[in-house]
Amino acid sequence: MSKLFTPITLKSIEVKNRIVMAPMAQYSTGRDGISREWHLVHYATRAVGGAGLIIVEATAVEPRGRITDHDLGIWSDEHVPGLKRIVDSVHAHGSKIGIQIAHAGRKSLSKESNPVAPSPIAFDKDFRVPEELSRAEIEKIKGAFAQAASRAHRAGFDMIEVHAAHGYLINEFLSPVTNKRSDEYGGGPEGRVRFLREVLTEVRKKWLEEKPLSVRISAVDTAMELDEMIEIISLLKDRCVDIWHVSSGGISPRKVTAHPAYQVPYSEKIRKTLGVKTIAVGLITTPELAEEVIEKGSSDMVALGRELLRNPYWPLTAASKLGVDLDWPKQYEVAKI
Ligand SMILES: Cc1cc2nc3c(=O)[nH]c(=O)nc-3n(C[C@H](O)[C@H](O)[C@H](O)COP(=O)(O)O)c2cc1C
Repeated sequence: MSKLFTPITLKSIEVKNRIVMAPMAQYSTGRDGISREWHLVHYATRAVGGAGLIIVEATAVEPRGRITDHDLGIWSDEHVPGLKRIVDSVHAHGSKIGIQIAHAGRKSLSKESNPVAPSPIAFDKDFRVPEELSRAEIEKIKGAFAQAASRAHRAGFDMIEVHAAHGYLINEFLSPVTNKRSDEYGGGPEGRVRFLREVLTEVRKKWLEEKPLSVRISAVDTAMELDEMIEIISLLKDRCVDIWHVSSGGISPRKVTAHPAYQVPYSEKIRKTLGVKTIAVGLITTPELAEEVIEKGSSDMVALGRELLRNPYWPLTAASKLGVDLDWPKQYEVAKI
């Protein structure tokens, strides 16, 4: 009996299986951040392919929080209709859908604004030195996350994921490499976690209590061991976070060597130590491996990135390989294996 294909309940949302489409930036908007035909087709196709939960790519809460000038945006009401079309289409094809709300911080390459960060330290020589955020600016960005949550609600999303990983703004507050502040937003774990905690509080004010909230984290990094991240999560555990999406790296240019399921042990330790729900991600490409991760209790869900770019129908074919008799879209039944 496959565990990968059993439903999971996240607050009021029931997801039909444990397969998540990982957020993957498409860099395919105009400078307005409004979604295009590409996004609609791209996400709806993965719903047709059977992924239980689709997480829309990093979507900027303010223009200077874009990674590039072609990122999706959610900083204006003008973004809502396009996002709603994506949500409606994914729902029509039987999947749930979340959105990753994000701020790129010092890793923004936008040509239209200067990057900002907790401290004025550049990512590397190819990046600009960011402006250090004042208290007033921090308040403004917290407000931008709250507005983004309100728009995500209006667009009909089932889940919000706050992007606190990969060396972007929230991660920059969490990491001692990028956060050298001497005010209450810096120092030890309590200080460095403050920005994320306040963002979550603001987001929750606009995001219904009964809807799930995910946080994506980099569990380990150049200067952060897993135990420190576990301490940080334990400081936030009661902040209405329903699931932790466990990734790694990104705070410094140093690359990690990846192998199949390389981040799964982080998810497992976080899940088992803290008793929280997790999504595991990173080079999980075969049905057998995905099944094993869930079966062993290493995570509650598994996210696939590049494998779903290669094969949007991966969940349908994975079910067949695991001996699960899924209903395929009737138009494709003739191809069922
Ligand atoms: C094209 C591309 C874009 C990505 N964009 C994002 C993003 O917007 N937000 C994010 O948290 N991770 C992003 N990632 C990382 C993926 O979500 C995922 O964690 C990573 O690809 C590892 O999973 P995989 O081995 O299944 O591809 C991106 C990855 C790719 C390949």
